[in-house]
Amino acid sequence: MNDKQAVALEAASYVKDEMIVGLGTGSTANYFIEALAQRQQQGLRVTTVASSTISMIKAQSVGLTVLGLQQLSQIDLYVDGADEITPDNTLLKGRGYDLVMEKLLAKAAKQFIVVADKSKLVPHIGQNYPIPIEVMPFAWQAAKRSIEAIGGTGELRPNVAKDGLCMTSHGSLVLDMRFEAGLDAHSLNAALNNIPGVVEHGIFAKLATTILIADQGQIATRV
Ligand code: A5P
Repeated sequence: MNDKQAVALEAASYVKDEMIVGLGTGSTANYFIEALAQRQQQGLRVTTVASSTISMIKAQSVGLTVLGLQQLSQIDLYVDGADEITPDNTLLKGRGYDLVMEKLLAKAAKQFIVVADKSKLVPHIGQNYPIPIEVMPFAWQAAKRSIEAIGGTGELRPNVAKDGLCMTSHGSLVLDMRFEAGLDAHSLNAALNNIPGVVEHGIFAKLATTILIADQGQIATRV
């Protein structure tokens, strides 16, 4: 079992009978979906809501019931991976690009458990990746100019496999923007929240309730 599987299995043990569980996106979240399906086969009753079309398809393929966000009045637990995790538990997310659903679920859930291996630990946001910023397709140039005005540089994310642009499950485009090193993630979070045309962005500040980090089979829990 690799570290991503181990941490996903640990997160599955947090799920209680009759919970409504949010499903993240990415390889670690996929392991969680599989672990949850296994617990369902052992008798656990669970309903899920997915953060992306790809996770919805994955969950349905292993027999989980997936409802739409609009059908739910509460979410008990959301389990998702992250691309970067800082010492103060700020996250960078969005390499899988479905930011708006990921942040809605992270905010709506009573508990948000982040699952990752130790390669995701960084001193500051933006260390390994640009900041993904989901933008309305008709507004991307205007939004990009506003982001450049606060020091961002970058481009629309290409879809290498399909020779086009990445598009989210809900039809937005994604800008991958870099900012000068050392820029405070909390100020950047607030600044990006204020730009018209930005649907959502990948800085998740003060949203995680529990972070599970796997390192060579050992799991550390941060709360
Ligand atoms: C998805 O958009 C991201 O926020 C993911 O949570 C992230 O890319 C994690 O991916 P892995 O679990 O594959 O590392």
